[in-house]
Amino acid sequence: MAKTTETIGEHHVRIELKLNGKPVSHVVNGGRRLIDFLRDDLHLYGTKEGCGEGECGSCTVFLNGTATLACLTPMERASGGEVQTIEGIGTAENLDPLQWAMMEEAGVQCGICTPGMIMAGLDLLKHNPHPTRDEIIQGIAGNLCRCTGYQKIITAIQRAAETRT
Ligand code: FES
Ligand code: FES
Repeated sequence: MAKTTETIGEHHVRIELKLNGKPVSHVVNGGRRLIDFLRDDLHLYGTKEGCGEGECGSCTVFLNGTATLACLTPMERASGGEVQTIEGIGTAENLDPLQWAMMEEAGVQCGICTPGMIMAGLDLLKHNPHPTRDEIIQGIAGNLCRCTGYQKIITAIQRAAETRT
């Protein structure tokens, strides 16, 4: 998709992007964060805001195929690009193997970190389909979880890696 950001008046811009495979066109305040656009403007509540400062990873989405922190991404940067959120990963009837594994291994507790953790896990598996446990720990190092102690999440990612082979 071509870069498309049209300035409207002093403070607004029109943003066009592809979101979970569908074209979206919206007028937003200049500098609006991608996380606010997703949650407040589009009511896509899957992407969570934890710290809002780039520290916890709970807002991780894919921007042009790269894991990206939506709380640090102004809409102008996403414009013309392709954004994929947790809503674009699997469906209720057809979950991604990592979503299944997270449920079955009890890698989901309060759920705040879960969407970001799944995006980080998928990003890892995309680049390294057969990670070791240490590589998984490194791969999700930017994603914090206050509930699970990480072991169940790591096991879930390992299980998903096996399922995908
Ligand atoms: S909310 Fe974005 S990194 Fe914490
Ligand atoms: S499940 Fe609660 S923060 Fe991870």
